[in-house]
Amino acid sequence: MAFAVQTAKGIFELIRDDLALVEQEITAQNDAAIEPVASISSYLREGGGKRLRPALLLLAAGASGYRGPSAIRLGAVVELIHSATLIHDDVIDGAHTRRGQPSANARWGNHMSVLAGDWLYMQSFEMALRERNFAVLDILIDLTQNMVEGELLQLTHLGRIELNETEAMELAYRKTACLFCGCSRLGAVLGRQPKHLEEALAGYGRNAGLAFQMVDDLLDFTASPEQLGKPVLSDLKEGKVTLPLIFALEAEAKHTVSNNGHEGGHHDGSHAGGLGRQMVAKVLEERGFQTVRPEQITRLVRDSGALARASSLARDYASRAKECLNELPDSEYRRALLAVPDFILDRES
Ligand code: IPE
Ligand code: IPE
Ligand code: MG
Ligand code: MG
Repeated sequence: MAFAVQTAKGIFELIRDDLALVEQEITAQNDAAIEPVASISSYLREGGGKRLRPALLLLAAGASGYRGPSAIRLGAVVELIHSATLIHDDVIDGAHTRRGQPSANARWGNHMSVLAGDWLYMQSFEMALRERNFAVLDILIDLTQNMVEGELLQLTHLGRIELNETEAMELAYRKTACLFCGCSRLGAVLGRQPKHLEEALAGYGRNAGLAFQMVDDLLDFTASPEQLGKPVLSDLKEGKVTLPLIFALEAEAKHTVSNNGHEGGHHDGSHAGGLGRQMVAKVLEERGFQTVRPEQITRLVRDSGALARASSLARDYASRAKECLNELPDSEYRRALLAVPDFILDRES
């Protein structure tokens, strides 16, 4: 905890003034909005949020030798894209809480929220267009499409207990990591880095984003809702099978196979078998904890070693992110970028 606080301080201190300018830029775009978009947008902004995506962009730009108005503007752009995604995501998930307060859909309803999200997407692209830079637009369009595809793909996987690790990683990439990747890539583009350093920074963002989503999946099992600002144990209720659960079911299937010997064992893990699997199936079927108690699921992921395995994988991705920075010249920005993966691993909200 102390470590996390200190790391966060170091990272955010360096870009404190720039982040304040990003905040001003976001507030200014609000003035262009009609009601209720303006209210929805400022409500979300005032609800908090870590501003991790603009922070990444500013740090990557700094590490690439660029500081200036384009990084501020694009910092606001990526935060607005993130906001639009959250508003739409909460509609899709039927979520009631975001950033510790009622979600936009809970307050304004689905119809208004969908349109507010659309408006924010367009506003962010209009802002980005002011850069008159096709490389920037390419990156933003690519990542936004990827995120929408991620949400669509997640819908097609909803309620599927058979979801495997590869599929879960693809979802994590599209939903979360591609925006992180875009942020650090944009920083490199602003600093006119050669292609190999742009790719290194993009790889950094991708790996950090994957670690971030894994920690998000873990926090759904381990955090308190007060800390997190959204309900816990909600992924499974929403029909989402995440990595910790995939690992728990895998561990159980392996156990069953080894206990049954070769005969009667089901190597594909698709048997009705284990108790854990039956419990998970029940929660998915009921989309809630009517029959199974939440503690039973928490115990399943913990006692099977699945939480440990998922957090070790998150640590792997965090290290890979840091390794991507090897070729970058030393600077205080690079050192702050090196600290971000630890912040991601230690975060509690
Ligand atoms: C939430 O992102 C959405 C996910 C990718 C899991 P954050 O946890 O960064 O949300 P805020 O912006 O800090 O509220
Ligand atoms: C987060 O998705 C939103 C996107 C990155 C598209 P989730 O549905 O998994 O995350 P939370 O739990 O609502 O923040
Ligand atoms: Mg959601
Ligand atoms: Mg989640």
